[in-house]
Amino acid sequence: MAILSFTDGTRSTDHQNIQGILSRVGVRLERWSIPSDRNLSALLALDRPSPKEAEDLLAFFEPRFATLKETLGYQSRDLVCLHPALPDLDGLLARFLSCHTHDDDEIRYVIDGAGIFGFVLPDGSQVELLVLAGDYINVPRGAEHWFRLTAEKRVKAIRYFTSREGWVPVYTGTPVHPFTEFAQS
Ligand SMILES: [Fe+2]
Repeated sequence: MAILSFTDGTRSTDHQNIQGILSRVGVRLERWSIPSDRNLSALLALDRPSPKEAEDLLAFFEPRFATLKETLGYQSRDLVCLHPALPDLDGLLARFLSCHTHDDDEIRYVIDGAGIFGFVLPDGSQVELLVLAGDYINVPRGAEHWFRLTAEKRVKAIRYFTSREGWVPVYTGTPVHPFTEFAQS
């Protein structure tokens, strides 16, 4: 379950409270339960699933994709697997550590591990959101945000797209507040 962190070091785990704060920038956070299945658990445990294993893994979540296609017009999805042994992981992540926006929505469904989204709220204050397995997040186009990993540097997430062109970072230059690290599980 997601945790919201504030610049004064306080936290919130109350979903309604978190959703209320994030809605100020149009962010939607939902809980989508992870299916309980032995084969899925085995696939989720792989750091580097093969293309076939990745498709097998995505197949468990196709009903969600079908709904997104119908309701929001999403056209494609893929699986992102980040882990400490990934070549140039830090270089890859560096693109998203600074405040940026996109011309398309950034939609992520975390199915394993953890990630951290930061947001600049309309009053200029900043928050960080820890997202864990089962958290679905929609960061709307134009919302100023950043993304990083926890110290474990491990996450698997499904990305949903309407088009690939819109999904590049446009940097805003806003300095990111140094937030207190989230505790490791
Ligand atoms: Fe982004």
